[in-house]
Amino acid sequence: MRQAGRYLPEYRALRQRAGSFLELCYSPQLARDVTLQPLARFDLDAAILFSDILVVPHAMGLELTFIENEGPRLETVSSIADVERLDDSGRNEKFDCVASTVRLVAADIAEGKTLIGFCGAPWTVASYMIEGGSSDREMAKSVALASPEWFEALMAKLVKVSVSYLLQQIHAGAQVVQIFDSWAGELPVASRERWVTQPIAEMVAGVRDVFPGFPVIVFARGVAAGHADVALETGANCVSIEQGVRLDDVVSVLPDTVAVQGNLDPAILLGSRADLIAEVNRICSSVPMKRHIFNLGHGIGQTTDPEAVSLLIQEIRRHDGHV
Ligand code: CP3
Repeated sequence: MRQAGRYLPEYRALRQRAGSFLELCYSPQLARDVTLQPLARFDLDAAILFSDILVVPHAMGLELTFIENEGPRLETVSSIADVERLDDSGRNEKFDCVASTVRLVAADIAEGKTLIGFCGAPWTVASYMIEGGSSDREMAKSVALASPEWFEALMAKLVKVSVSYLLQQIHAGAQVVQIFDSWAGELPVASRERWVTQPIAEMVAGVRDVFPGFPVIVFARGVAAGHADVALETGANCVSIEQGVRLDDVVSVLPDTVAVQGNLDPAILLGSRADLIAEVNRICSSVPMKRHIFNLGHGIGQTTDPEAVSLLIQEIRRHDGHV
């Protein structure tokens, strides 16, 4: 996550050249370069498309800007009339730009490396559309819990447009897709099935209607003991797990057809070499290798030294072949 982010000097340089973050997202040649930057520097197995989950509401017709050092500012939705105005056709220039990026990366990515496409899950994207940016999400939560007709309609539109968006990425060359529900853990457990796993399950089914068996990773961040249910209820091939969860507990209740990724606290990359090695050992010994994608529990910190990432990868490679 955020592997192409601001901790890399080559990202910051390119970002400066592009002007704004959104311009970078919608410039296929530059977004291609950013997507491939981590692979050029590190011995990684995969690259994640450079884009953002807020491209979807932007493409549906809402105004979006990213304020420097602050985050996104998105036009809000709060009524059925607002929802009806949203374009869920999936046909727009923004998705076309992202598909062009995917095609460029797919053409140039090294043999044996995997290109991961992605989008946000309906609940997380809806929460930004309700709040207008990063916030405590109190408003979004109260809307989800009251579940007015307009929220149901919004979630249905997000499922439809997100499936179309993922399919466009897959047609263009994405080999795996990841669905980010960054705020899944913010909803009460009783609402989780309705607003987290059910909409994601519909997305997974929508993708597999066109590409049977297509591999999907689901990141329902913050659901703690709920990751096994997320896997079972969504049909994901792999669940991504935040830091602070006991990986053993999740793995022991998951069917062995489901893989796991994540769990390394990004803050470990700011600490000592000994702590990093201990964490890599803990994680690698909790999951059989054939069911494991090594990853962080969330986005990489902005001040992370790229050398710490090199060291991490070197340590992970020592476990190649572990069972
Ligand atoms: O590694 C990558 O860069 C892959 C592409 C990627 C980005 N965002 C680029 C980005 C991905 C997969 C995302 C997902 C994303 N975006 C999520 C879900 C994952 C998560 O982090 O929980 C969310 C919630 C967003 C929304 C978003 N985008 C916010 C809230 C912000 C601003 C605050 C922040 O943490 O940076 C962004 C900006 C953003 N998205 C940046 C990048 C590289 C930084 C923008 C910059 O260069 O200034």
